[in-house]
Amino acid sequence: MLLHLGRVLLLVVSSADTAREILKTQDLNFCTRPSLLTLKRLSYNIQDVALAPYNEYWREMRRIFVHKLLSPKRVHSFGAVRAEEVANMVNSISKSCSSMRSVDLAEELLSLTNRVICRIAFGKSYQGRNFDGGKFSEFVHKFMALSGSFSALELHYLKIVVKETLRLHTIAPLLIPRECMNHCKVNGYDISPKTRVMVNVWAIGRNPEYWDNPDMFFPERFEGSSIDYMGQHFEFLPFGAGRRICPAMTMGNLHVELALANLLYCFDWKLPSGMQIEDIDMEEGTGISLHKKSPLLLVPSKYNW
Ligand code: HEM
Repeated sequence: MLLHLGRVLLLVVSSADTAREILKTQDLNFCTRPSLLTLKRLSYNIQDVALAPYNEYWREMRRIFVHKLLSPKRVHSFGAVRAEEVANMVNSISKSCSSMRSVDLAEELLSLTNRVICRIAFGKSYQGRNFDGGKFSEFVHKFMALSGSFSALELHYLKIVVKETLRLHTIAPLLIPRECMNHCKVNGYDISPKTRVMVNVWAIGRNPEYWDNPDMFFPERFEGSSIDYMGQHFEFLPFGAGRRICPAMTMGNLHVELALANLLYCFDWKLPSGMQIEDIDMEEGTGISLHKKSPLLLVPSKYNW
């Protein structure tokens, strides 16, 4: 679909075949980002990896970013940081158990992510801890051992739950906008340079042509399926594809799986009293990334330590 927004041409892609054409076959024509004033304000004059135009500077930045922070070896080396911060989160949540107070999971998980990213990127934490030193180190060792056994076990079901969540509630519903660099043809249509492109992975992820009962949360659909999120299955693109694919897939997934596995292992979760499952408001909020509009409040009822 081509939209004319004043002088701006915007191509919206909502099928897996055309997504493959844009993000793979003709990736080299579409791998730059539009230069928008709002993005410049948000991102140090578009000097960052995600919004920089496709050029030598971006290539070098991305290479350094991947090499220094995101390669499997580097991600593995940050295991102790993840374990410490997950231990902090579990400790903080455990305090709500005895009082049967509800926990705002969005707040807990955002705070966990901020702490992990700060420590990985800047080498230090900006938030205090509530443990005494000896107890903390004992607690972290438990988590490191647990993280090891988690990856060794068949955390298979958890992984397909995460996949199904990324299909239905994909973090970047329109990916990050791209821009056409050279005159080219897509599906027989002429596309001119400067045309903006948005790939609607939200719609593709819910298209009944590719998914049975697309609106149903059914992790088992990934059971025995070869579909993964590495950017080669164009009906499922939670991390995008092509040259601008998310470089932090491994780190992002490991983080989500470890946090979720521990939340489920350490606690039983109940809804606040008087609330039924149907009362959970699943409306999505607006913003740079997709999130639940109202926070998920749950009561942790058992502390498994
Ligand atoms: C589960 C977690 C994550 C998801 C689902 C996700 C998803 C995405 C998506 C959809 C894109 C756009 C790809 C495109 O335009 O084709 C993207 C780009 C990007 N992501 Fe992620 N992301 C996640 C975690 C992270 C983390 C933790 C970091 C940093 C540490 C990160 C850094 C980036 C960067 C730098 C780009 C831009 C790449 C480029 O333009 O060259 N992401 N991500």
